Amino acid sequence: MKILRNLWVAVGALALVSCGQQPAATEAVSVDKAAVVIENIMTRVSVRQFTNEPVAKADLETILKAGLQAPSAMNAQDWQLRIVTNQDMLNTLSGFMLQTEMGKGMAERLNGKNAFANAPAVAFVCAETGEKATAYNREDTALMSENMLLAIHALGLGATYQAAPARMINDSAEAKEFLKSQFGLPENAELINIIIIGHPAESPAVKDRDQSKGRIIE
Ligand SMILES: Cc1cc2nc3c(=O)[nH]c(=O)nc-3n(C[C@H](O)[C@H](O)[C@H](O)COP(=O)(O)O)c2cc1C
Repeated sequence: MKILRNLWVAVGALALVSCGQQPAATEAVSVDKAAVVIENIMTRVSVRQFTNEPVAKADLETILKAGLQAPSAMNAQDWQLRIVTNQDMLNTLSGFMLQTEMGKGMAERLNGKNAFANAPAVAFVCAETGEKATAYNREDTALMSENMLLAIHALGLGATYQAAPARMINDSAEAKEFLKSQFGLPENAELINIIIIGHPAESPAVKDRDQSKGRIIE
């Protein structure tokens, strides 16, 4: 019964997001709602294998909004985010990536898949650089990424934050040019990481964390 109640709270929260309504900041957070959110954080795990099923557009919109809702230093929002489902574009980009030094080393581990594990959707997370950006643009994109990872997990989808593919793209002039021109990114957008997204074709166990790394001091 409690699980059912929790689910309704989660569904309500997602419905709010997808309708574009913002919950009031002062709204009391019920114990049930907190339990759902904490459970979502504690059960998220990186997923790297996906089925061929496309991700519903409504889910992608929710994931995009969750990313854009992240906090940023001085609310500068000095980021750019693209979620791409076009497999022709992703395959072309992957081709450029696999020609880089890092890509060549990775090719044989891909088992014929592209550099995005053939994920049906890939988020490209960029930091805006230059005069208007703050010194914290990378921190901002990290928070944006975690927001998306948690939203993806809450939607029953799987994902992995990946930095290595971003390095491959940044190491390839063709890949960088393709990204800017095909994804409509401004000149000052620097790719920091990607997030591969899809319906899980594996269910990895949650990894233990070293609890001694954090403590409460009273
Ligand atoms: C900064 C950063 C870079 C990462 N880069 C990669 C990557 O290039 N490829 C990959 O498969 N996973 C990458 N990961 C995912 C981590 O391997 C994963 O989060 C970690 O092993 C903990 O596992 P969990 O996400 O299942 O809890 C990265 C994670 C972070 C935070």
